[in-house]
Amino acid sequence: MEAYGEDPGLRCASLDKLLNEKNARREKVPLTLRELIDALHEAFKADRVNIDEVQELMASYRSNPVEWKKFAKFDRYRYTRNLVDEGNGRFNLMVLCWGEGHGSAIHDHANAHCVMKVLQGELCETRYAWPAKCKNETDDTEEPEELKELQRSTLGLNEICYINDSLGLHRVENPSTVNPAVSLHLYSPPFSSCSVFNKQTGQRMTCKVTFWSKYGEKRNREVQEARCPEDN
Ligand SMILES: [Fe+2]
Repeated sequence: MEAYGEDPGLRCASLDKLLNEKNARREKVPLTLRELIDALHEAFKADRVNIDEVQELMASYRSNPVEWKKFAKFDRYRYTRNLVDEGNGRFNLMVLCWGEGHGSAIHDHANAHCVMKVLQGELCETRYAWPAKCKNETDDTEEPEELKELQRSTLGLNEICYINDSLGLHRVENPSTVNPAVSLHLYSPPFSSCSVFNKQTGQRMTCKVTFWSKYGEKRNREVQEARCPEDN
């Protein structure tokens, strides 16, 4: 006896339609920062992360300063890195604050995925090829070789970009001389040092990365000053 007298095929089709509508509605509803963090935790539960899904999640968040301003701690001299969430050891999510004209050194990403998103203002990303012969600071036997620029792009509000070491190196800058910029960065796996590069010579130097603040709390001056000297 049929319980509801329905054609099972029709029931499936209408269920699919409902689910599709629900998904479509969800796409239009911006995730809050809390929901984004929860969704990222969920995505990173898998043994192998789906980086496309992570990029979609980062893209789906619409910047809301009320949600991130407690992490946005600026320094007048250099850009700052402010930890938001440690992602159960699988990723670091942080807010970077760029004063007018602030920029990073040219750097790699220590074999990690990097997804960045603009929360306020505009950022300029310049990509470079790895030097043909990767030198370190003690190796002065090679001829200097200027890093080759691959591309330059400007990211506006809510736009994201993705990089890993196979795509090259990059430098990120706030091109504005009047407006600050804020960005949200996800790195997976987390790393505590990376390499920075001299544009003219291609020379490489290991650089420790530190946090200006953690979870909205400012850290002490010594930690802050242990930053990489090559940062602007
Ligand atoms: Fe980077």
